[in-house]
Amino acid sequence: MAGSIDRAARRKLLSWYRRNRRDLPWRRTKDPYAIWVSEMMLQQTRVAAVVPYYERFLARFPDVRALAGAPLDDVLALWSGLGYYRRARHLHAAARIVAGKGFPRTEAGWRELPGIGPYAAAAISSIAFGERAAAVDGNVVRVLSRLHATTGPVNDVARAWISPTSPGDHNQAIMELGATVCTPRAPSCPRCPLTSRCGGRGEPGRYPAPRARPRIREERLAVALVLRGGKVQLFRRKPDGLLAGMWELPRARPRGEPLAVVRHSILDRRQVISVFRGRPRRGGRFFGDLSRVPLTAATRKCVSAVRFPG
Ligand code: ADE
Repeated sequence: MAGSIDRAARRKLLSWYRRNRRDLPWRRTKDPYAIWVSEMMLQQTRVAAVVPYYERFLARFPDVRALAGAPLDDVLALWSGLGYYRRARHLHAAARIVAGKGFPRTEAGWRELPGIGPYAAAAISSIAFGERAAAVDGNVVRVLSRLHATTGPVNDVARAWISPTSPGDHNQAIMELGATVCTPRAPSCPRCPLTSRCGGRGEPGRYPAPRARPRIREERLAVALVLRGGKVQLFRRKPDGLLAGMWELPRARPRGEPLAVVRHSILDRRQVISVFRGRPRRGGRFFGDLSRVPLTAATRKCVSAVRFPG
């Protein structure tokens, strides 16, 4: 692209976005709270996985006061299965601040809230308040790296190019292009509105520089399903670290045939979890209705794989 600010390219990008954008629930609102919730959920999580969680979350906590007034466990229960639960803890803590002080209106103001990094602050302030802030996530890095045929940082390019009149749509347009056209492995260059100006056309694999992939670890685990009167015994994880404070099945010693074998991925681990019948043990708590309990996703999978009666 000639120069870092190409207005014609920007116009093409925006008009492509307005014609092709997916109809997503957070794109039908200007409510900063709803946009904030969506951006928290969308970090590290695909759009298709987020939509049902977003809708349930907004139905239950329709505004920031409702969220601020809710117990953390209710928030975690609704987040259960989305992963990266620190996002939910931070969102809840930040809601308590915002319910008292009101919404920040600037990128810098959003940065001060728990759990809001440079990407989210720019995304929320541009989409909800029209601030000229560039949101740079993985999709945006890929699109801009290819467009400019660079393997270096693209933050300055992103900032220089952001539309002064429609920064929220501009940010979402680049994300959308990255998610639907300029995809990591097999981009559809003929469908791209910027193809004629793209420095990476024909060699998309060169940009951005490939990242070192974390080595995937296989983990075999055994857990116990302990039933009493149709209720299942769960234990709470430590209040810090991975999946802090979530409820899960206790570990077991493998013995005989498992009731079920479940596969689960978390961070760089691929888990194969065998579920055995177990006897009640000390500690933990018995739960009947699990729908309101913040279970780990692996636990939810194990319980539904066995589908115990009651
Ligand atoms: N990923 C992050 N923010 C998004 C948004 N607003 N729309 C679609 N995908 C996104």
